[in-house]
Amino acid sequence: MAYQQIKKNEQDFASVTGAWVNEQFSPTSDIEARIEEIQRRGYSIIENAYTPEEVAYTKKSIDSIYADQLRQSGGQKELEKSGDANIARQLLTYDEFFLSKATNQTVIDIIRRMMGDYFILYQQNGNLNRPHISNTTAPWHRDLTFWHMTSSRPLALSALHVISEFTKDNGAVLMLPGSQKEETFPSNSYVEANKKLLLAPAGSICVFDSMMFHCSGDNTSDKIRYSINHMYTMPLITQQISLPRMLGGKWQDDPFLRGFLGYNCMQQPSVQEWRFEKVKNARKQLTVK
Ligand SMILES: [Fe+2]
Repeated sequence: MAYQQIKKNEQDFASVTGAWVNEQFSPTSDIEARIEEIQRRGYSIIENAYTPEEVAYTKKSIDSIYADQLRQSGGQKELEKSGDANIARQLLTYDEFFLSKATNQTVIDIIRRMMGDYFILYQQNGNLNRPHISNTTAPWHRDLTFWHMTSSRPLALSALHVISEFTKDNGAVLMLPGSQKEETFPSNSYVEANKKLLLAPAGSICVFDSMMFHCSGDNTSDKIRYSINHMYTMPLITQQISLPRMLGGKWQDDPFLRGFLGYNCMQQPSVQEWRFEKVKNARKQLTVK
C-alpha cells in the first residue's frame, strides 16, 4: 500500500484529532459533553446510576406494581386486548423510590440546559420485555409517536433506565442515530445500514431526544428484560395519565416537584374550575417585560 512517510518538522496529517476547520465546539463540562452527544447523534449514556442492590430492588418493585395493576385491570388477557400488557405504569405513585430515580441529578441538569426550567415528567413506565414476546415498542417509533417534524430545541427528552443489562441475547434497544433531525422516517435500506444496537450495563441511563427513532429488540434469552422509560416534556404536552390526580396532592407543596409532577398544568373540567385553580395557585406575575 502506498503511503507518505511523515518526517519531523512536517505537518502531522495522521493526527487522530486533526481537522481542517476554523470552528470547533469544545465542551467545558460533563453536562455539555453529554448535550453535544444528544444534539448530534441523539443520545448519551450515564453509567452507574443504580447500585446493584437498587437494581435488584427495582426488579422486585416493578413486578409487584405490575401485579397490582393486573388485579385492578382484570388480568393479563385484558391488558393484552388493549395492547398494554407488560408495562407497569407511573411507578412513583406506588413507590417513592422511583421519584428519586426520576429526578436523577445528571438527567435533570441535561433537561434544564436543553429545555429550560419549565418541563414536566410526562410518564414513568416499567417495561417487562418477556422472552419471545414482542410488545408495542417493537416497531420503530419516536416517543412522541406519529410526530413528523423537527424543532430548534427538544420538545421532549427520554431517559431509559437499563435495569437488566442490555445484551444481544435479550434484544436491548436499537437506535437510529441522528434521526431526531429529520421529519420523515428513512427508507428501510437506510435503517438497515445505520441502526445501532445499544448495549449497556445494568444501572445505566440512556438519555435521548424523544424524537430520535428507536425500537426494542427481540428478547431471545430466557429472562425478562427490565427497563424504565421516563419522558420529560414541555408542559403543553400533557400527561395522558395524570400524576397529580394519582398522587392526590402528595408533594404539591415542594416548589420543584410541584411543577415537575404536573400540578401547575393540570387539565381542568370546566372554565370555572380552571379559573379557581389559577387564583389558588398563583404562579405567574402578570407584568409585561
Ligand atoms: Fe420508546
